[in-house]
Amino acid sequence: MPASKTSTTDSATDKQKLSHTEQHYFDSYDHYGIHEEMLQDSVRTLSYRNAIIQNKDLFKDKVVLDVGCGTGILSMFAAKHGAKHVIGVDMSSIIEMARELVELNGFSDKITLLRGKLEDVVLPYDKVDIIISEWMGYFLLYESMLDTVLYARDRYLVEDGLIFPDKCSIHIAGLEDSEFKQEKMNYWHDVYGFDYSPFIPLIMKEPIVDTVDNNLVNTTRCKLIEFDLNTVKLEDLSFKADFKVEAKRQDWINGVICWFDTVFPAPKGETPITFSTGAHAPYTHWKQTVFYLADDLECEAGDILKGTVTCSPNNRNNRDLDVKIDYDFIAKGVAGAERSKKNENTYLMH
Ligand SMILES: C[S@@+](CC[C@H](N)C(=O)[O-])C[C@H]1O[C@@H](n2cnc3c(N)ncnc32)[C@H](O)[C@@H]1O
Repeated sequence: MPASKTSTTDSATDKQKLSHTEQHYFDSYDHYGIHEEMLQDSVRTLSYRNAIIQNKDLFKDKVVLDVGCGTGILSMFAAKHGAKHVIGVDMSSIIEMARELVELNGFSDKITLLRGKLEDVVLPYDKVDIIISEWMGYFLLYESMLDTVLYARDRYLVEDGLIFPDKCSIHIAGLEDSEFKQEKMNYWHDVYGFDYSPFIPLIMKEPIVDTVDNNLVNTTRCKLIEFDLNTVKLEDLSFKADFKVEAKRQDWINGVICWFDTVFPAPKGETPITFSTGAHAPYTHWKQTVFYLADDLECEAGDILKGTVTCSPNNRNNRDLDVKIDYDFIAKGVAGAERSKKNENTYLMH
C-alpha cells in the first residue's frame, strides 16, 4: 500500500500556468459554500452513498479513484464500505480541508489525497478498479468535467473496471412560463423611461437554471441523448439529437425545459440506484435548465413540437456550451396553419 499523502500541500499543477478561465473554474471550488450546497443536496449525495453500499461486494478490497474529490465525501464513503485504498484528486484548495476531514474521521491509512489536475498528478497505482466522480454540471455537460473522467477512465481504469455513475441522459419537454418570460423581457422596453430593448436578444440567448413547477410542463417528455460512460468518447459530447413531444393541453409553449437523469451500476438482478433532476423529481441543486423560445406557441392537446438540439463546447471557453434548438411546431385543428411555427434559436450557457 502506498504511503498516505494526506499531509502534502504541493500541487502537481502550477495554477499560475493555467488560463484565466481555468483558474477561475478551480477558484470557484475553493470556497466551502459550493461544497456545502453539494453535500446538502441529499438526493445527490445519498445516491452515491447508496450506490456504493449496494455494490459493497464489488468495492471490497478494490483500489478506487475519486475524480474531483472536493471535501472527500465520496472517498470516505468508498473507504468506509470496503475499498482497499482510495485516491482522491482535486485541483482546488478545498482538498486541504479534505485532508483534515480524512484524518479526523480516521481514514488516513486508506485514503491518499493528491492536489493538482487529474491530468497532471501521478497516482500511486498504475491502474484502479473503480472510478467514482461527481462531475455533472447544469444541463449535464456544462463545466465539461466529464472530459476529465474520460481521461481518467482511459488512462487508469482496468479493463472491465466500474465507473460510478455510468449512465447519464438528457431530457426535454415543453413549458408554459408566459408570466416570467414577459416580466423578464418587458423590463427592457422601459428602463427609467429609456428603450433598452437591444438587451432582449442577449437575454434570450442565455438559458436559465432554476426550479420549475412541474405543473408548468405541458408536453410529454423526450430523452434527447444518453451517455454510457463505459464507452462514450470525448467527441460524442458534442452532439446533435432529435426530439419530439406532444402538447398535453390547450396552453402556450414559451420554452423548453431540460434536465438529466443518472444511473449507477448495480449487482446483477438488482435495481440500480438512480436519480433524476427533472421538475417531476425531488429538488436537486442542479434544478432545471430553461431555454426560452423566440416564439410563443399556442398549442392544443395533441399538437407536436419536434426539432433538433445541437450542443458543443464553446470555442473560447470550453467549459461553456453552445446550444442550438431548431424547432418545428405542428399545430392541428382550429387555425392550425397559423399556429404552426418553425424556427432556430441559439444559446450560450455560461
Ligand atoms: C462537483 S465537485 C464534486 C466534489 C465532491 N466529489 C463531492 O461529491 O462533493 C467537482 C470537484 O472536481 C474538481 N475538479 C474538476 N476538474 C478537475 C480536474 N481536472 N482535476 C482535479 N480536480 C478537478 C473541482 O475542483 C471540484 O472540487
